Amino acid sequence: MTDIENKIPTKRLVRTLQGEVLQRPPIWLMRQAGRYLPEYRELRRRAPTFLDFCYSPSLAVEATLQPLRRYPLDAAIIFSDILVIPDAMGRKVGFEEGEGPRLEPLGDRAAVAALRPEHITTRLGPVYEALERVRASLEPSTSLIGFAGAPWTIATYMILGKGGPSKAEARLWAYQNQEAFHALLDILSQAISTHLIAQIDAGADAVQIFDSWADDLPASFFQRAVIDPTKKIVAAVRAARPQALIIGFPRGASARASDYAHETGISGVGLDTGADIARVREKLDPKIATQGNLDPQLMIIGGDMLLKETDRLLAAAAGTPHIFNLGHGITPQADPANVEMLVAHVQGAS
Ligand code: CP3
Repeated sequence: MTDIENKIPTKRLVRTLQGEVLQRPPIWLMRQAGRYLPEYRELRRRAPTFLDFCYSPSLAVEATLQPLRRYPLDAAIIFSDILVIPDAMGRKVGFEEGEGPRLEPLGDRAAVAALRPEHITTRLGPVYEALERVRASLEPSTSLIGFAGAPWTIATYMILGKGGPSKAEARLWAYQNQEAFHALLDILSQAISTHLIAQIDAGADAVQIFDSWADDLPASFFQRAVIDPTKKIVAAVRAARPQALIIGFPRGASARASDYAHETGISGVGLDTGADIARVREKLDPKIATQGNLDPQLMIIGGDMLLKETDRLLAAAAGTPHIFNLGHGITPQADPANVEMLVAHVQGAS
């Protein structure tokens, strides 16, 4: 590490997203806050529902900062959820313990027309307040990340009322209701752009777009439902905030990661656990950062296996702009001691 890198508190995550190659990459972890931390489980008891928790600025600030108190991570990610967008637009959203999110299924074109994207900035005010408060308490060298779900991923939850396993059915609905589906993607793109701009204004250094259900899509559908709406969002955010740094995470679509990155105009591309980072890099603009992609299961395993796989990933990404992360979120079974070991190892302290 050079002296300059040591002394200047410029944010590593920001520099990497601007295309700079650092001696050691910035590190943060998807779902770095959450149930694997005993202090989160304790804090969570203070709100009756998960959305009440997300909309309480003091609880969201505390949950955001909990992992930063344990580990010297290079970035904080605001504690919230991708489903605050349908909630703010007037759909019913609930979280069942052990079952994941449940929404009121969307129905038809009339239900799409009744969505209220103009409610985003007012209904999501508590999220922006939490961002401002987190910003004020972070070290100047620590970045703050805002986020939103991508249109396709949020649409899969909205259409049938639940996530992942029902995404083939959501595609069926999209084929059967093409006009309503495109109207839905447009409304979501508008709402998401508004939400990302407001998060940047509240102090986010970068924003991430989670497309968690981008896997297993036909190429033409991937273009229409993943690339095109994301490209629209990136353009809208940059029209309003030209310097905006945007990470796109098309989970499960690493074979298309370079097309996705080049066509959408994002600053960095998140790679899932299954991606071969060196193969993706071969086709990627050298200024576009990669992010990922250590197996989250290693946060349960720890030990030499964790260190060996971490070194393998560091070597594969060496000499390129890369943000160290997992290939998907930390699971509730993760051992906080393994997270501590990983962060220390990447930062060269062990
Ligand atoms: O630390 C962070 O990464 C920030 C917080 C964050 C949460 N959700 C908190 C959360 C982030 C970035 C998300 C994004 C999110 N939410 C995604 C995209 C990332 C991914 O995992 O692919 C998705 C698909 C969702 C939707 C969602 N929210 C699901 C499927 C679930 C239930 C799954 C589970 O783990 O139980 C949630 C609830 C949720 N969001 C929890 C947390 C900490 C657990 C609920 C609780 O603590 O009571």
